[in-house]
Amino acid sequence: MNKLEGQSASEIVIFGALGDLSRRKLLPALYQLEVCGLINEKSRIVGVARQQHSLEEFKTIVLKNLNDFVKETIDEVILARFTARLVYQQLDMKQASAYKKLSATLAKGNSTRVYYFSTPPAIYGDICDGLNHAKLISDNDRVVMEKPIGHSLESSKVINDQVARFFKENQTYRIDHYLGKETVLNLLVLRFANSLFTNNWDRNSIDHVQITVAECVGIEGRWGFYDEAGQMRDMIQNHLLQILSLLAMEPPADLSAECIRAEKLKAVKALCPIDRSNVKEKTVRGQYADGYLNGVEVPGYLNEEGANKGSKTETFVAIKAEIDNWRWSGVPFYLRTGKRMPKKHSEIVVHFKEQPHNIFKDSYSDLPANKLTIRLQPDEGVELQMMNKIPGIASQMNIQENKLDLSFNDTYQDQRVIDAYERLMLEVLNGNQSLFVSRDEVEAAWAWADSIIDAWQATNEKPKSYAAGSWGPVSSISLIARDDRQWVE
Ligand code: BG6
Repeated sequence: MNKLEGQSASEIVIFGALGDLSRRKLLPALYQLEVCGLINEKSRIVGVARQQHSLEEFKTIVLKNLNDFVKETIDEVILARFTARLVYQQLDMKQASAYKKLSATLAKGNSTRVYYFSTPPAIYGDICDGLNHAKLISDNDRVVMEKPIGHSLESSKVINDQVARFFKENQTYRIDHYLGKETVLNLLVLRFANSLFTNNWDRNSIDHVQITVAECVGIEGRWGFYDEAGQMRDMIQNHLLQILSLLAMEPPADLSAECIRAEKLKAVKALCPIDRSNVKEKTVRGQYADGYLNGVEVPGYLNEEGANKGSKTETFVAIKAEIDNWRWSGVPFYLRTGKRMPKKHSEIVVHFKEQPHNIFKDSYSDLPANKLTIRLQPDEGVELQMMNKIPGIASQMNIQENKLDLSFNDTYQDQRVIDAYERLMLEVLNGNQSLFVSRDEVEAAWAWADSIIDAWQATNEKPKSYAAGSWGPVSSISLIARDDRQWVE
């Protein structure tokens, strides 16, 4: 089915329309949907922000953002169609009485209202109150929430409760942008459309799994936000646990939001708790110190602008996660993520079990096990490491390690790489929740993360230092080496 069929006309209301996320991601994503002809012709985009601007000024700002953040050349005809949808509303989003103004701006009639909260979560409740005050919420409307949803289980419940007073769960779309990434979605296809993997995806065939999400950026001027969060709350609680749950979940009965989210939830709930009793053995936290990236000197975390010199916030985390169920008992999932690592590089490596017996001893004494690498970004692709005979007459069985490499760039050369927000935005417009995170999932992920954070606080230890531009503290190597394994570099 064409993704536009069945899409009703919408009023897409972006709260925080002049903020960083909206400028870099949301408006460019909507423009790209326009290019693809995937927005209902009657839909409008209403930018809401504190600043006073005329519509013409708003359009000029939007155009500048598109020029800055859309890689392709902006098409004049499409741009005209896109800007014709734009509306701007200045609003003090904390003032319930001010929302009457918004009411006057929004179209009357049958449009579905999509409220995108691209503001700090602290004001989600205020926005809901304002919308309710101006009678701007109906059962037809949708609300989209950005992470972070809270900084703990308790605070996430407060935010979710505030929103749930007015929006039901089936109207609520919680974004984890990793779920919109092509390669993350491809995990479902790899696992459930290939019997080779479907039938070998458990403790009988898999030895362990590594998930690495490395970034070379530091905290990008976000000291205040980041120092409160740290890498555990910023990346593990959401993005890495989402990847883990897609890898570990049982086959869903179908692709519906209900089935996929129920299975992901079970996987997160089956994670073995990490607490004060085992935190030292199962986790490593690090903080980058001064170092070099691509030959350029970069400051350590405590020397970033605005830094609190005594901060114990982690910028790197490695965890040995275990899942307590029939499928995964005894199969560790090693998670690793950090800022200021040598390169931006995210991948999943599934290590299959070794052969029980080696009949090729004469040419290869230590047969390596098969490895499936899923490159999430950049250079998206899938690679299967296998053993192969070296052709030739001289020796009968000369074998070597080789790989089957499916590089998306080479295979799908004509395809533009779609940004996660384009897909997620389209799914919201089409009313499909399967790529969004349910409240239960958010809470289960917080419950697991909170216990680790509590244990770290109880030890009161500083994170281990690592030089910017390195792969993290040495103890992250020991974390996996203790199990006689090593990180794939
Ligand atoms: C965000 C985090 O959710 O994800 C950032 O807040 C991080 O700290 C970013 O840099 C990474 O996203 P991506 O798509 O660049 O891997």
